[in-house]
Amino acid sequence: METNSIAPALHLRTPGGSHPIWLAGGVLDHTGEILPRREFTARCAVVTNPAVGKLYAARVTESLRAGGFDPIVVEIPDGEEYKNLDTLRSLYDRFIEARLERHSPVLALGGGVIGDIAGFAAATFMRGVPFVQMPTTLLAMADASIGGKVAVDHPSGKNLIGAFKFPCAVIADPEALATLPVAELRAGLAEVIKNAIIGDAALFDELGRVEVNGDVIARAMRVKIDLVERDPFESSVRAHLNLGHTFGHALEKLSHFRLRHGYAVAIGVSIAARLAWRLGRCEAATCDRIVDLFEQKSLPTRAPREFDAGQIVEAMGADKKAAEGKMRLILPRAIGEVEIAEGVPREDLVAALEESLTPPHPPF
Ligand SMILES: NC(=O)c1ccc[n+]([C@@H]2O[C@H](COP(=O)([O-])OP(=O)(O)OC[C@H]3O[C@@H](n4cnc5c(N)ncnc54)[C@H](O)[C@@H]3O)[C@@H](O)[C@H]2O)c1
Ligand SMILES: [Zn+2]
Repeated sequence: METNSIAPALHLRTPGGSHPIWLAGGVLDHTGEILPRREFTARCAVVTNPAVGKLYAARVTESLRAGGFDPIVVEIPDGEEYKNLDTLRSLYDRFIEARLERHSPVLALGGGVIGDIAGFAAATFMRGVPFVQMPTTLLAMADASIGGKVAVDHPSGKNLIGAFKFPCAVIADPEALATLPVAELRAGLAEVIKNAIIGDAALFDELGRVEVNGDVIARAMRVKIDLVERDPFESSVRAHLNLGHTFGHALEKLSHFRLRHGYAVAIGVSIAARLAWRLGRCEAATCDRIVDLFEQKSLPTRAPREFDAGQIVEAMGADKKAAEGKMRLILPRAIGEVEIAEGVPREDLVAALEESLTPPHPPF
């Protein structure tokens, strides 16, 4: 995509080209300038939910109109439980009703749920229409809006129906984080810390001293951009981004998704760190620093006591693999460096999990 007057912060090289990433306070008000009108049809759709729409949709549509666009706002209900095929169908219905065409952009204004479902709709409607990510949560800025994965859930699993759909632009306004509930901000911070452990030791150090700001988000994005550029379709190093996620997904599943994803990731990365230390793959100090930073940021580092290690191994789908010595996990080697560990023995896995359960309350 051609770029207009204000400069993007970053770029991501995709298999088909490259797309800009804008990251600046107030950038939502420049949406209509950023998107070069001549490359698109005027009719476009802003997909959002009532909570985010109320806060930011008017600013985005006003800017789009000033840029010569003719936007409609499509709201879907708020929550992961609506990231499904029924809601997707309602999006197609609205797109058809509004006469969207092949060059009509679909803009996803919201957190990862909106980005994932609007992105999948954009990937499939008329075999693909232009897509713009406008992340408004920390998790979506640092993670979900980067890398082109889009999906909806199926009753038998999260993100089961999906595609790769790189956006033509990401427009992220860190000022929008001011209205984000504290728990959501914390959940996003878990992924930022995860990215720092994967590829930016200096960012990790800094996170111990500073609060989230534009620079922190940009550096977390950069870690993901680098891995996605090297391995866009996840056949090798992109898997590093799954640090803590095999454990995290198992805990989310066992909690029937009551445990927030970011919190599950904080616990999962902490378990991975304890396991890496146990296997002699990282130093004790590395493990301690990881767990301490999560604790400092009020994130959990231990699994709820109601689950036992055996249940977690089963929910990981790891029983058979571990028994056959085929267990593959992403483990930290040092701050800023991870590795894919093969053949992790079941005993070590169970021991690290047991060490990671919340201790029972003292009897007083
Ligand atoms: N595609 C990917 O690569 C990828 C990566 C990670 C996560 N995800 C997906 O992302 C989803 C989680 O995303 P999330 O954590 O952003 O959750 P979310 O989209 O549910 O947003 C969390 C809550 O914050 C509200 N909200 C959003 N922005 C706000 C703002 N600025 N002010 C006030 N409230 C605001 C939302 O309405 C929602 O209630 C999951 O579905 C997950 O599967 C996708
Ligand atoms: Zn994640």
